[in-house]
Amino acid sequence: MPLTPIQDILEGRYEGKYVHIRGWVYRKRESKDTIFLVVRDATDIIQSTIKKDPGYRAWATAENVTIESSVELGGTVKRDKRAPGGFELAVDQLRIIGLAETFPIAKDKSEEFLRDVRHLWLRSRKMNTVMRIRSEVLRFVHEFFRKEDYVEVSPPMFISSACEGGATLFGLKYFDQDLYLTQSAQLHLEVLIQSLEKVYCVAPSFRAEKSRTIRHLTEYWHVEAEQAFATIDDMMRLEENLVSYVCQKVAEHCKKELKTLEVDAKELAKIKTPFARITYDEALERLHKKSFTIQWGEDFGFNEEKALAEEFDKPVFVYAYPKKIKAFYCKTYKENPELAMSADLLVPRIGEITTGGSRVDDKDELIERIKEFGLRQEDYDWYIDLRRYGTVPHAGFGLGIERLLAWMLNLESVMDTIPFPRTIRRFYP
Ligand code: 4AD
Ligand code: MG
Repeated sequence: MPLTPIQDILEGRYEGKYVHIRGWVYRKRESKDTIFLVVRDATDIIQSTIKKDPGYRAWATAENVTIESSVELGGTVKRDKRAPGGFELAVDQLRIIGLAETFPIAKDKSEEFLRDVRHLWLRSRKMNTVMRIRSEVLRFVHEFFRKEDYVEVSPPMFISSACEGGATLFGLKYFDQDLYLTQSAQLHLEVLIQSLEKVYCVAPSFRAEKSRTIRHLTEYWHVEAEQAFATIDDMMRLEENLVSYVCQKVAEHCKKELKTLEVDAKELAKIKTPFARITYDEALERLHKKSFTIQWGEDFGFNEEKALAEEFDKPVFVYAYPKKIKAFYCKTYKENPELAMSADLLVPRIGEITTGGSRVDDKDELIERIKEFGLRQEDYDWYIDLRRYGTVPHAGFGLGIERLLAWMLNLESVMDTIPFPRTIRRFYP
């Protein structure tokens, strides 16, 4: 028996036809002579009506069926303005595949509760829709890099030397050795550009973040690119092209999903290049005008980043940060060695969504920086080797998929963008 996706029925091609669908009971309502079941499958939801008729076995089954039971239905498609989606199914066959016990999720449950039962909440329209857009965003990220001739590479997750500083490093026992979970693939991507020149990856990164904010996860998906013979300016161009490409494509291909989430596709489509670029010094001036008291040399916090981003109608780059607040591998400006060739891309509500820039390419300078940061040179021997054998100027960046999604879809937290969020408190389910 061929099955019809609900989405195809709602597109109108089956009016008056008899179809079979399969899915889960999303809502149930009963009047004197009709039972209304809203049924969902992966593609959409449809209202189904079962009329009271003692001769119909379907009526007795419909009386028994519970919310979230899995079911198979047969019926005739009717146009009905009152039904959500404009069509309904007049059912005469109903079979329960798996009868559900009382479903724990009812209306008006707290976000906290919904995260506790994430394994069930993922069935909601909101989560279903976010997961679909997430999949599309990943597709467009890959599409973008392939079109730009970047080679996709697969970096390791077990690592022996930190990329982003010890404070957020997860240690683990690796047989009888002490290792870490990777914070960023950057250092390994720097190896791969020595033969492939332009590489990228989409992989998990791990951060032992003790902060409980709307933008921090302990495990997130990291898009990273690295390129030989490239500069911080090349990276800013690449990043803005990527972010704009993903926004345009999602606006074009995910209209229905965006509508479900009440996100204006037209607004997303306006995220076009070029994005503004301001220096750290300029950013500081703007902040002081807004009565922030942050001093030169201090890093921006969440509030500073949000305040800056809100001054622009598109994402904005801040570059040339004091080198002390950036990582050991950041190259500095010749004319001002106190400033790092490092840029963050900021968006409203979320703040930073990318960090990128030029890397130190001189061996002695790198060794100096490793010492300055209190790191052990022997942990970075292989990384220093890259500067020993045919070094090249190079640059790269990293973008957090969850932050990008939370911004694009106007979601409350990065936790709403990933199926099973991991935070300091949350690792179940
Ligand atoms: O700014 P970060 O720490 O930069 C790096 O890791 C560089 N090595 C990347 C590179 O140049 N290849 O992280 C990059 C991005 C951030 O801008 C943010 O979007 C995301 O990763 N990110 C997080 N997302 C969710 N939860 C966290 N705890 C995150 N930490 C960073
Ligand atoms: Mg950063």
